[in-house]
Amino acid sequence: MEIIILPTPEEASAVAARLVARQICEKPSSVLGLATGGTPCGLYRELARMHSEEALDFARVTTFNLDEYIGLDPAHQASFHYFMAENFFRHINVPPTLIHIPNGMTADVPAHCEAYEQAIKAAGGIDLQILGLGSDGHLGFNEPGSSLASRTRIKTLTERTRRDNTRFFAERDTVPHHVITMGLGTIMESRMCLLLAFGRGKAEAVAASVEGPVTASVPGSLLQFHPRTKVIIDVEAANALTRADYYRWVYQNKPAWQTNL
Ligand code: F6R
Repeated sequence: MEIIILPTPEEASAVAARLVARQICEKPSSVLGLATGGTPCGLYRELARMHSEEALDFARVTTFNLDEYIGLDPAHQASFHYFMAENFFRHINVPPTLIHIPNGMTADVPAHCEAYEQAIKAAGGIDLQILGLGSDGHLGFNEPGSSLASRTRIKTLTERTRRDNTRFFAERDTVPHHVITMGLGTIMESRMCLLLAFGRGKAEAVAASVEGPVTASVPGSLLQFHPRTKVIIDVEAANALTRADYYRWVYQNKPAWQTNL
């Protein structure tokens, strides 16, 4: 794991955007795994800016989102379909046929999940997976206790996650209990992971994921087993790390051949 601590979420998002842009430039047909929520909004804004001002081209990019609420129509303003369209897809040129988001309205959840896994395989696997972190340590919607080998499937949200996400819903207490999420096993097969976390509210989950034991109780900790994960956080989210000074030194003193972004 490489831990990159930056002063603000804006600076962290800019570094993350440069990593995503480099991936796309090196492989124009990249397969990106995408997250929703407050965390990646700055990253998506910066990528959209790079598209309009620097000709960053998404024409051959394929995307797979991590998750979606069961029972929410794609037109619902709190659905992840709606979120992605508003915050990212309508600002870039990714072809709609190459966008994949779990269908929360499917009549057959297990068959849909299996088809989602097959679609990821058929696309050649995920090159770069963008991840946020739940305040309870969840990745995607893999809540604490999720099988470390899990695949795309139905999950039940914890009350804490439902409370955290109430802010995206116009009416309180309407956050669905059930979701479809890529599994931890699915996420771990991505060739590279980019975990973003901002704000004091994420500090404990970041510390547990990066410095704690690997445990299903903190799904983010599974990334310690991933060979290529970058954790990009702001100072607030770094607040509970015991080796923050070391991570900062490593980032600021890389050998010249290890280009910094
Ligand atoms: C969303 C997702 C979740 C969020 C996490 C953090 O697609 O997979 O794991 O990344 O709940 O949410 P925010 O960014 O809103 O704090």
